[in-house]
Amino acid sequence: MISKDFIKKFLSIIERVDQKQIDQFLKNVMDDLDVFYNLLDFYYEGILIFNEKMEIEFANKKALEVFKYNQEQSFQGKTIDDFILSRNFRQYLYHKVENHEDIVEEEHIIGSPLVRVVRVNLLSFQQKDGFIYLLTFMDITRKKLEEIKNRRKENIASMVNLAAGLAHEIKNPLASIDIHLRLLSRFLGNAPEFQEKKEMDHFLGVLQEELSRLNSIVQDFLASLRPISLDLKKVSLEQIIDDLVSFLSLEMSENQILVSVEVEDLLPTVLGDQKYLRIVFLNLLKNAIEAFPEDQKDRAVKIKLSENYPFIEILIQDNGKGISPENMEKIFEPYFTTKSYGTGIGLTMIHKIIMEHSGNIKVDSGLGKGTTFTVMLPQYKGETAKYLESGEE
Ligand SMILES: Nc1ncnc2c1ncn2[C@@H]1O[C@H](COP(=O)(O)OP(=O)(O)OP(=O)(O)O)[C@@H](O)[C@H]1O
Ligand SMILES: [Mg+2]
Repeated sequence: MISKDFIKKFLSIIERVDQKQIDQFLKNVMDDLDVFYNLLDFYYEGILIFNEKMEIEFANKKALEVFKYNQEQSFQGKTIDDFILSRNFRQYLYHKVENHEDIVEEEHIIGSPLVRVVRVNLLSFQQKDGFIYLLTFMDITRKKLEEIKNRRKENIASMVNLAAGLAHEIKNPLASIDIHLRLLSRFLGNAPEFQEKKEMDHFLGVLQEELSRLNSIVQDFLASLRPISLDLKKVSLEQIIDDLVSFLSLEMSENQILVSVEVEDLLPTVLGDQKYLRIVFLNLLKNAIEAFPEDQKDRAVKIKLSENYPFIEILIQDNGKGISPENMEKIFEPYFTTKSYGTGIGLTMIHKIIMEHSGNIKVDSGLGKGTTFTVMLPQYKGETAKYLESGEE
């Protein structure tokens, strides 16, 4: 049986040596299969050992885990086909085995039965009675998904920059068109009556309206990208929420939404910009109002304010239609909207304002289970200190 000292020694060097040295080491201990197999169960990569007939001779714990192979079940008599479900990768492996070619650090997609991205190595060893193959693989699916996500974020950032440049360029010709349309309209006003004068005046009016729409789209877009400069002061969130609830009360009751506000006693104030924080909660509440399917009856929006030192935590919760997992990743992206009338800029703006406040925003949602936005904003320090000193409960 394998000695503990031997395992310790192996584990102590395994972190310091590189893949090639480990491979060399593994080759050296190949003679003593008992020792070898025991050791392989400790290895952080999946390992399958198989013969020329593709029959599995050994699979370590990690391999069984990645391939979701029942650990109780014996792998004796099983072949590579029982483990690797992806036909493409299997064919590739057969090809490599037939040609006695190694695989060095390649990335492949396998079905395990879940789709996984793995980094693979294949080594062949000539034995007295034929070849034996060692397949090692590392599950790198998580890392790959992270990479894809980051790439998407970079793409969005560069697209937004490009669009900002474009919007900026559009502003000048728009201003020039505006001046010339005004001039035309003035000339037309002063011109003597003629048959199509009324129609022309109407057409000019339409052009001016459309132009001002274009102008406000460009301006809103540029405003949403501009860094905001906050005027940080002591702000009562309770006050902001109370004002907004009464401001939206008509809309809420028209939509038959029951709204409730719960504020923890002695809630400290926050350090923030009143004007911008109002925008944040107005948009979150608007989204909540818009979250209900037409046929839903028991519509409720709950607002909860509580202390979570050193933050104030604000929950805006609705029991509306919820957000699908695919959409959850996109809701903070500029211009993502599922509403026919939405611009998709609300949550982008909210996120930006909260980040500028050194706060945080989280969302918990699922289709049919409603949505909860949790906003964290830093407490106003002077207030907190006073509150703690006074020892009030
Ligand atoms: N409370 C909510 N319940 C369900 N979906 C929501 C909720 N809040 C946001 N969403 C989803 O996130 C998307 C983006 O929201 P966001 O506020 O950024 O834009 P919008 O509401 O569509 O348009 P607007 O720019 O007018 O606010 C929405 O279109 C909706 O799909
Ligand atoms: Mg919105």
